[in-house]
Amino acid sequence: MRQKDVVVCFPFKKEDVDVFSKNIKEALSNKRVKEVILVAYSKNETYQGIENFINTLSKEDKERVHLVLQKRFGTKRREGKGDGMNTAIQYFLEHTDGNFLHFYDADIKSFSSSWIDRVQRRLDEGYDVARCFYPRSYTDAQVTWNITRTGFAYVWPDTILPDIEQPLGGELGFNRHIAEKLSKDNIVLSASDWSIDTAFTISFARYNVKLYEVYIEEGKEHKLYGRLSDLKTMATECFDFIKDNKDLVISTDKMVYHKDELKDIPEKYKHMVAFDIKGSINEFKVGWTPKMKEYLVRYFPREIGEKVNNVLTGKDTEFIDIDLWFESYGVFMKYFDISDKDWRELFFKLWVLRVLNHAKLAIKYPDKAIKHLRTMLTLFRERRMAKRL
Ligand code: LAC
Repeated sequence: MRQKDVVVCFPFKKEDVDVFSKNIKEALSNKRVKEVILVAYSKNETYQGIENFINTLSKEDKERVHLVLQKRFGTKRREGKGDGMNTAIQYFLEHTDGNFLHFYDADIKSFSSSWIDRVQRRLDEGYDVARCFYPRSYTDAQVTWNITRTGFAYVWPDTILPDIEQPLGGELGFNRHIAEKLSKDNIVLSASDWSIDTAFTISFARYNVKLYEVYIEEGKEHKLYGRLSDLKTMATECFDFIKDNKDLVISTDKMVYHKDELKDIPEKYKHMVAFDIKGSINEFKVGWTPKMKEYLVRYFPREIGEKVNNVLTGKDTEFIDIDLWFESYGVFMKYFDISDKDWRELFFKLWVLRVLNHAKLAIKYPDKAIKHLRTMLTLFRERRMAKRL
């Protein structure tokens, strides 16, 4: 039998302590797992709950679990999940002699020890990085589709980056060599907020790793969001990171990328609506400042301003299609400024219109919807490639 050489990390903030404790037990029970690092955002209620849980473990297990507070690595971006993950990498390198580090979100109800085996199997085969992807509701993953994968297609159209299924996935494993590279990489260290997952993804491409995407068929059961506004910070931070790094030259010619075959997703995911559509439309209608309107008129093609007005007055129910999103994306790439609240709000609002357009299609024609998102990636890619000719 192989030695215990895997370290598992769960970064966390506010979680259901029972779900989280069960996940820690699952990790501890895995034959390959040596130690478990729990990186806390702050000493909040969850922290106390987890501390109590650790006290119920056997002496032996207690010694295998490390509860640590996250440190501040980024200086420019918000203090968030990125600092937590970077803290874990540093802890892994300085305090353990594990060969592999895995990350899993703390709140996944369907998590089990076998996820670790499925990720580790690929690392044992020689892949540097193995990352999980899941069947997801057709109306979910709209940051992934409309911000990250489109952004990759916009900025790095001739790489494999836009083909990665779930570049924001927080469940992944890599070897010690990759951990060392990440720990010294300023692009990664600066990604202290929600941008960390994107920072990892582009860095794996920058390092030309061997990457495997592992399909977790049973899905990731976790807390869903209510209105799209729950995703506002994530959406803007993910976009801003791509914009910030748009001048990076990336070639993935030497990268190896394999993934599990995509199976048709279970019916329940096709019809599950991931967010409150009516509430999101109502929210769209409020909070327009004079500055936002001014930006819209000054920087965007006229059609987009008209579109917004028509949605505000209830005259348009088609929202932003893939063509208009390409136009909008280009404007944001040029002018968006994360330190300006009006730009953040405007970005979020136009993204909402894009998501609503997709959601409408997904509800009416579930099977066409995903194909259409793939068409969007092709459109972004082809238009950007044509620009280079
Ligand atoms: C995404 C977020 C919603 O992947 O989880 O887009």
